[in-house]
Amino acid sequence: MIKPKNIPTSEEINQMVSTVVEELNITTRFLETKEYMQHGHISVYEHCIEVAYTSCYLAARFKIDVDYWSMIRGALLHDYFLYDWHIAGDNSHHFHGFTHPKRAFLNALHDVDLNFVECNIILRHMFPLTFVPPMRREAWLVCLADKICATKETLHFTHTDAAVKYGSVRES
Ligand SMILES: [Fe+2]
Ligand SMILES: [Fe+2]
Repeated sequence: MIKPKNIPTSEEINQMVSTVVEELNITTRFLETKEYMQHGHISVYEHCIEVAYTSCYLAARFKIDVDYWSMIRGALLHDYFLYDWHIAGDNSHHFHGFTHPKRAFLNALHDVDLNFVECNIILRHMFPLTFVPPMRREAWLVCLADKICATKETLHFTHTDAAVKYGSVRES
């Protein structure tokens, strides 16, 4: 277990992310997110793992004191909306950018218990598109990491990133 004020190593970050991914694979519908594409050729599953790693690396790099376990859980569930937002269908996903944090939050709440930090991460990760800003450091970091990862994925700069580096996590 990482103590809050310790700065984790890359190996410790890898272990924490792997632990939470394996837990969510068993206890939730997280594996279902492999079926939905996020940006480019990256699935929602890969995107969320990438955001979790990036959030941890930002916190460690800038020595920000965070609850790593809650930040990882929130990051992995931040896009837990469980549909393909590229498919127009009945146009119910038309405002996906604005509405999916609430949908992800309700899905996550249905499957697991969430603490305040995890709720805040999921609900506020689309700031400033959604107007209410994050309230916790962990939520700010995931909000930033999400934008970094989305940009990389859209520009196809993902093959050197953590989720690919730790591909064994994705395949579990
Ligand atoms: Fe999102
Ligand atoms: Fe995202």
